[in-house]
Amino acid sequence: MAEELIIAKTANKKEQYETLLPQIEALIASETDLIANLANVSAALKQAMGFFWVGFYLLKNDELVLGPFQGPIACTRIRMGKGVCGTAWEKNKIQIVPDVDQFPGHIACSSDSKSEIVLPVLNNGEVIGVLDVDSDQLNDFDETDKFYLEKIARMISKKW
Ligand code: SME
Repeated sequence: MAEELIIAKTANKKEQYETLLPQIEALIASETDLIANLANVSAALKQAMGFFWVGFYLLKNDELVLGPFQGPIACTRIRMGKGVCGTAWEKNKIQIVPDVDQFPGHIACSSDSKSEIVLPVLNNGEVIGVLDVDSDQLNDFDETDKFYLEKIARMISKKW
């Protein structure tokens, strides 16, 4: 495993993800502990992409429960259909929210969070958790984030 993360010195998001993805793959390749992997993936995403908040919620007894993350403290439990995370879970569909204030039922963990993307993590097509990324800027997530974060969600699902 690489001991230091190599970060692309560019403002180009695609290049940043392209540099990061193989490192995430290597980071989790030889570790079997789920929490250790989710913790390192959160840290790598925060460090390389500079996200305001990034982390995982894990499906436990019919609720999403806060898992490893990087950023300000967050709400610990989310029910199906509640907020962006609960909607991604219920619909089994990636949610890109350009302005969280316009999203009905958004759970405001931090008033600094302005936009977000939430990706279901799947096992045999069933949601087992979500990857949640928040920004303190409006409209910060697009198809590039969706493309690469989905790859990361798929990588981590194999280690779940
Ligand atoms: N904003 C999320 C809740 C989780 S925090 O942002 C970390 C939502 O509405 O699902």
